[in-house]
Amino acid sequence: MGHRGAKAYVAENTMESIQEALRFNVDGIEIDVHECASGELVVFHDFTLDRMTNGTGEIGKHTLKELKALKVNEHYQIPILAEVMNLIDKTCLLNIELKGKHTAAKTCEIIDRYVKEKGWRYTDFIVSSFQHHELEDVYKLNKNIPLAVLTKANVAEAIEFAETIDAKIIHPNFALLTRENVNFAQQQGYKVNTWTVNDEETIARMKSYGVDGIISDYPDRI
Ligand code: G3P
Ligand code: CA
Repeated sequence: MGHRGAKAYVAENTMESIQEALRFNVDGIEIDVHECASGELVVFHDFTLDRMTNGTGEIGKHTLKELKALKVNEHYQIPILAEVMNLIDKTCLLNIELKGKHTAAKTCEIIDRYVKEKGWRYTDFIVSSFQHHELEDVYKLNKNIPLAVLTKANVAEAIEFAETIDAKIIHPNFALLTRENVNFAQQQGYKVNTWTVNDEETIARMKSYGVDGIISDYPDRI
C-alpha cells in the first residue's frame, strides 16, 4: 500500500501523490484525515500546517476555503476526502487513518454514501487509527466497516483492543514485529499490515514473516 499516496515521490497526501501510487498499481493507498473548521474531512497528516504548507497553525482551526488557498510543498492543494475517493474510484483499497479527533462520524457517512450510491464495497476500505475513541465511534455507527488498530507500542495490546471493537486487522510499526508475533496474530485471526517499510532489506524481512500488507513511501519497491 502506498503511504500517504507515494510519499517518496510526490508531496504526501495530495491528489498527485495518490495518482502516482495508482500508476504503481498499488493494492491500496493509506491517507490521513482531519476535520477542518468548516466541517469537511481534509486529507493531511500533521495537526499543524507549518511543515507541509505556506500556512501556519492548527489545521482544525482553518476553514476549507482557507486551506484550499494554501500550497502544499509550494505546488499542491490539500484535498478533501471525497476528492481522493473520486480519484481512486474503487481501483484499489483505501485505508483512511483517522488522525484528527471527531473524524469517525463523517468518515462513516461518506463511506456509507459511496457504498450505497457509487458501487464501492465496505471491503474496499480499512479505517485505522491510533485513537481508540475514534475506532470505537466507527464501530458503534457501522459494524460493516473494516477496522484496523494502529500501534507503535505493542502487538498484544493492539490485539486486546481489537477484540473489543471486532477489528480483524492490526497495523503495527515494523519495528515491533517478529516472525513469532506475526504468526501469533494471524493464528488469532488477524491480518497484519505493517508500516512504514521503505528499505529493500526490511521489505524482504517483513515478507519473510508473512505479513499480509506492507505500507510504504516507495510502493513500487513492494
Ligand atoms: O497508517 C500507518 C502510518 O501512516 C501511521 O503513522 O504517522 O505515518 O500517520 P503516520
Ligand atoms: Ca498515516
